[in-house]
Amino acid sequence: MIEPFLFQAPARLVDFMRQADQPEWINLAAGVPGLDALPFAALREAAGEVFASDGASLFSYHHPEGDPALRTLLAERLGTRGVAALTSKNIVTTSGCTQALQVLLSVLVKPGDTVACEAPGYYGLLELIAEAGARILPLPVSPDGSGIDLDAAESALARWKPKCLVVCTSLSNPTGATLPGIHRGRLVALCRAEGVRLIEDDIYAELLDNGAPKPCRSWDDGSTVSFVSSFSKTVSPGLRVGYCVPGTPELEDAFAARKCQQDLHSTVISEAILRAFLRKGCLDPHLDWLRERNQRRRELALDAIGRSFPPGTEVSAPWGGYMLWVRLPEGIDSDAFRTQAHGASVAFADGSAFFARQPGGTPPAPHIRLNCARAAEPDLERGVEILGKIVSGLA
Ligand SMILES: Cc1ncc(COP(=O)(O)O)c(C=O)c1O
Repeated sequence: MIEPFLFQAPARLVDFMRQADQPEWINLAAGVPGLDALPFAALREAAGEVFASDGASLFSYHHPEGDPALRTLLAERLGTRGVAALTSKNIVTTSGCTQALQVLLSVLVKPGDTVACEAPGYYGLLELIAEAGARILPLPVSPDGSGIDLDAAESALARWKPKCLVVCTSLSNPTGATLPGIHRGRLVALCRAEGVRLIEDDIYAELLDNGAPKPCRSWDDGSTVSFVSSFSKTVSPGLRVGYCVPGTPELEDAFAARKCQQDLHSTVISEAILRAFLRKGCLDPHLDWLRERNQRRRELALDAIGRSFPPGTEVSAPWGGYMLWVRLPEGIDSDAFRTQAHGASVAFADGSAFFARQPGGTPPAPHIRLNCARAAEPDLERGVEILGKIVSGLA
């Protein structure tokens, strides 16, 4: 039975971020791409150009909603994905997708309200929901990689009427699930019928091998869907450029006001660099290269899992991106696995971080999430094989 409950976040983002830097480890944990995956030369060129063109204004206060020209480019790009009639006025830039999610939740949710999300779901989101004092309504995802189970969602939304539902609609973290187009329209209709605001997290969409699909927002006029995304997974996480399309004029204003209370506006230099990078047409060629890189690395890791993990292991086969979600055979002692893997200097993300648990609830089946984008390719293969050997010893 699906029901909402108060919970404590299963993991802290700050701990994941701190362990992102351990050079001697094979790090398959934090969802961070390697430095060689960043378009450094193009970013350096873009930075040089904006230092010359924008001058001292790069170092001044700016619009609370963010760089207007960048927001126009973002509106145009969403236009090519079927989101009609957007202008810069409908978009607020943020410090990453994290701030977009946090500000939206803080505007929409009061302590004790219910927030629905995917189960399993991104641990950073779980922490934000817990921090908002909300009750979580975890909605199961289908085992076939098509994302949230819409029949289960339909009855749970009707029964519990959450304030909002947060869904990572493409290459969800950690499952890699992508909601098919036909499900997107139905999900928007379900949320509309129940008066539930759908928060669509689109952060991985451009990493799909076949290109970014129409977002749920393209089935809506903003009255039901709020859209968040960032360039952390496609261009650079360190730029910290994300954005939100809140939806209605009231929400746009409330979002901008709350964001402004937090940090006045996001980083001017980062937004200007990204604006120049996009204007020069650098994004699409970089995405083509990145998709190929991710595909090759997923295949390397999938082969290594097939060779070295014990029977009973199941692994996702996402249509893009760089994360694999691995279900281990029943009965594996997750603590022993992690300790032995750390002893061998290999890090992975423990599946338990992605499940919100009711106090005293049953522990989830053992899973791990592997990031294939960071380690050098030989280390990626070796790291997966080391994990396979350890888990085979524990099976
Ligand atoms: C699903 C999801 N949403 C949001 C974020 C946060 O991204 P950002 O670096 O843009 O704040 C992440 C980061 O891993 C994520 O996986």
